Amino acid sequence: MTTYARIADLPSLEASAVTVRGWVMRTRSSGKIGFVVLRDGSGYLQAVILKNEVAPELWECFKGLTQETAVAVTGAPRAEPRSPGGVELAVTALEVLAPSVDFPITPKEHGTAFLFERRHLWLRSRRQVAIMRVRHEVVQAIRDFYYARDFTLVDTPLLTGSIGESAGTLFETEYFDLGKAYLAQTGQLYLEAAAAALGRVYCFGPTFRAEKSKTRRHLSEFWMVEPEVAWNDSDANMRLQEEFVAYIVERCLERRQEDLKELERDTAPLERITPPFPRLSYTDAIDKLRAAGVNAEWGRDLGAEDETVLANQFDRPVFVHDYPVGVKAFYMKQNPADPRTVLNNDCLAPEGYGEIIGGSQREDDHDLLRARIHEQGLPEEPYGWYLDLRKYGTFVHSGFGLGVERTVAWICGIQHVREAIAFPRMMYRLYP
Ligand code: 4AD
Ligand code: MG
Repeated sequence: MTTYARIADLPSLEASAVTVRGWVMRTRSSGKIGFVVLRDGSGYLQAVILKNEVAPELWECFKGLTQETAVAVTGAPRAEPRSPGGVELAVTALEVLAPSVDFPITPKEHGTAFLFERRHLWLRSRRQVAIMRVRHEVVQAIRDFYYARDFTLVDTPLLTGSIGESAGTLFETEYFDLGKAYLAQTGQLYLEAAAAALGRVYCFGPTFRAEKSKTRRHLSEFWMVEPEVAWNDSDANMRLQEEFVAYIVERCLERRQEDLKELERDTAPLERITPPFPRLSYTDAIDKLRAAGVNAEWGRDLGAEDETVLANQFDRPVFVHDYPVGVKAFYMKQNPADPRTVLNNDCLAPEGYGEIIGGSQREDDHDLLRARIHEQGLPEEPYGWYLDLRKYGTFVHSGFGLGVERTVAWICGIQHVREAIAFPRMMYRLYP
C-alpha cells in the first residue's frame, strides 16, 4: 500500500518508503546521479536517482521531466542536512501525473508586467509562496490579537449607501430601485454603531478605493482590519495601535523566520518594533520637515515623501497626530485644545513604508458632526442612522484601520503592495 506524505511531514515520518506528489522545480544530472527538486506547497524536497540502481525506464522518465510537471515520486526518506528541509528522498519509483510544456516563468529574470500577467502561475514561485505565508501569519495574528482581548468581530456591509471616507474615490453601482450603492471604503461607520452595542468590536475584510494612483502603496481593493472601542480616547487608541503592530511583527518573527529568510529580509529592524512608539504632533512634524529642508506648509496633507523623511528619523513606527481639520475625514473629533486640528493619528512604518494605519477619536457631538457633513458637501440623509448614534447616549470612542497589504509589504521588505496580495486589483490590472 502506498503511503502518501507531504514534504513538510517527512522529517517526522518513520516510514521506509513514501510517495510524495508535487511539481518539478528543476532537475540536474551528473550522468550517473539525477536530482529532482520538488515542491508540494508544504515544502521543498530533493529527490535523488541513481542511474545504476533504477530501471532504465525510470531514468528515461527522469530525463524527460520539465519544470512544473506534476509527479509522484516514491522512495526512502533520509536525513540530509544540506538539503532543503533536511531530508532527501532516495527514489525507487517515479510517475508523471501530468505534463507541463514550456512553463512561461523560468529561473531567468522576467519583467514585472510579464509576471503580473501570469500571476496565476507566478504564485508558485518560492518568493511568492513566502510572501503568502507571511500574509497568512499577519491575518491570523490579527484575529488572535482581538480574540484574546475580547473584541467581537462584526462583519460590515460591502455595499453601502453612504460615503465612508471621501467622495473622490468611490466605486459605484446601480442598486435596484434605490439609486446608487458604493463599494465600502471602510467598515468604520457601521462599527461605531456596533461599538455602542458590544463595546469592543472589529471588522476585517476587503475595502475598495477608486484611487487613480499608480504608486507602490495603492491598490483599488485591499484588506483592512478596523477595531472600534467605546470609551477609548485618542491616547488610548494609539496605545492599542502600538501594542497591535508590535504583536503582529513579533508573531511573524516567531513563526515565519524561514519565509523571511527566503525573502532575504533583514530582521534586525523588525526586532526593534516594541512599544511605545514615538509620537509627533502634525505641527511638530511640519517643523521637523522644515528643519530637514523640506518645503512644508502647515495645513497641507503629508505626502509619501514627507512621511519617509519623518519615519527615517526613528527606528520604529511613529505616530503623527492631530492633523488639520481640512485634510482629514468628516467623522474625526475636533481637538478641543486646538480647533484647527482633529484628534486623529497616522502610524508611519519605518524604512520608507509610509502610513500603515489611519485612526481617530470620532466626533461624538451631534451638531458638530452634522455641520462637518454639510461642510464636506455630503448629503445628510444617508447619514441619519450615523447621526442617531450621537442622539441616543453618545459616547467617547475611537478606532483605526490597518492596511494588510502595506503591513505585509513592510514586514516582508518588498517594494510594492501588489505582491502582498494574491490577485492585486489596480487601476491598470483586472487580469487574472
Ligand atoms: O487612512 P484610511 O483611509 O482610514 C480609514 O479608512 C478609516 N476609516 C479607518 C478607521 O479609522 N477605522 O485607511 C486605513 C489604512 C491606511 O493606513 C493604509 O494602510 C490602508 O488602509 N490603505 C490602503 N492600502 C492599500 N491601498 C490603498 N488604496 C489604501 N488606502 C488605505
Ligand atoms: Mg489615511
